[in-house]
Amino acid sequence: MTIFVTGGTGYLGSYVVTRLLEQHDDRLLLMVRGKSRDESVAKLWNGLQLHMDAASFRAALERIDFVSGDLTMPGLGITGDERRRVTQSVDSVLHIAASLNRKSEKACLNSNLRGTLNVIQLARDVASARGGLRRFSHVSTVAVCGHRDREDVTEDASIDWNRSDYDPYGRTKKFCEHMVRELLPDVPKTFFRPSIVMGDSRHPRTTQFDMVRATCLLIDAPFVPMRADARVDIVNADYVGRAIADIHVKESPRYDCYHLSSGRASKRAAEIDAVLTEKIAGRRPARFAPRLEKPFASLMNGMAGLPRSQASLVGSLFKVFMPYITFDTVFVNDRVCEELGETPVPFTEYCAGLYRWAKEHDYTFPYVALPAAPSVEHGTKNGAGAWA
Ligand SMILES: NC(=O)c1ccc[n+]([C@@H]2O[C@H](COP(=O)([O-])OP(=O)(O)OC[C@H]3O[C@@H](n4cnc5c(N)ncnc54)[C@H](OP(=O)(O)O)[C@@H]3O)[C@@H](O)[C@H]2O)c1
Repeated sequence: MTIFVTGGTGYLGSYVVTRLLEQHDDRLLLMVRGKSRDESVAKLWNGLQLHMDAASFRAALERIDFVSGDLTMPGLGITGDERRRVTQSVDSVLHIAASLNRKSEKACLNSNLRGTLNVIQLARDVASARGGLRRFSHVSTVAVCGHRDREDVTEDASIDWNRSDYDPYGRTKKFCEHMVRELLPDVPKTFFRPSIVMGDSRHPRTTQFDMVRATCLLIDAPFVPMRADARVDIVNADYVGRAIADIHVKESPRYDCYHLSSGRASKRAAEIDAVLTEKIAGRRPARFAPRLEKPFASLMNGMAGLPRSQASLVGSLFKVFMPYITFDTVFVNDRVCEELGETPVPFTEYCAGLYRWAKEHDYTFPYVALPAAPSVEHGTKNGAGAWA
């Protein structure tokens, strides 16, 4: 069986691909924005070196095929013989790729709406070429829930068309789910909605830094403009990757939609602060200042509009993330816990290591280029050069 995967080179995609390679048997056909196989391999290595060494990566390539494609191109840019190769070899689709650019209507329109429509059309081509499609899984987001305030949101109550959205990202991802439901009526479908995915419970390294940077800035700030008892729904990336991979390959998952989140077990800001104060030498407890939430948000919005500078970057960061940090809303995760028989690791158990590592590495992953493949050893069986 072969899974067509988009977004395998990204942060979450790297977790999903690694889990599929390590725990499941399917072949993977990865759609990558690479002009050649070598370029696609290099892009994949950038994502996967968080999880494996070069030798394991080279071994994994045996199970991976690549197709060059772009969400924003007509037909994904996969045409002719290449498209036939894809539609005849694939039996399920796992669509992870998206633009997470919360500020750009244009990027979200092109990558998320037009892109998802292109992936749906490819899935329909597969279904008609092969007489059906085993599963279409769509990686969405809890941002589809729109404006919320102190709620516990279940999967069925997430989408409410009368609510406003925080940003173009949430709005377009909401409509992507709608398109998948409407345009693939006969295909088994799964929707995954991760909450704030941050860090790995097994080690402190990460390749995604925006939210980590915003969190570290808040940890170091002289005051924290939010309520101390606000819950923040952060989930570990290793749990999310495992959930997407394992449920996608299941014969019959129990539900068609899953929140991949910490849900009601989400920690409150004060609980996270207490752990950080205990584990980070010299740190003093945060001063929570909920009355400053609105003035802080206005300041950040203003800074986000400044010409490109450190201040505008910080402003943009908080402009997009503050609503998700302060809205004291959690996404009930009973379904995924039941399906996997496992709960996510609380953020309080790994936040201090992530904080230290991210700051020590200046919010940059120490990427290394893929070392050249070891040349074939010239053996000496029965005398020099016998393998030559
Ligand atoms: N990270 C989170 O906290 C979070 C939370 C909730 C939901 N999600 C969802 O999870 C999914 C993955 O997010 P992520 O955090 O892994 O993002 P990411 O690291 O930015 O990865 C995005 C992936 O999409 C691919 N992509 C983007 N535009 C494309 C295009 N035009 N054509 C082909 N591929 C394109 C990227 O390919 P390149 O390598 O070529 O750039 C990359 O593989 C998204 O659907 C997102 O909505 C993420």
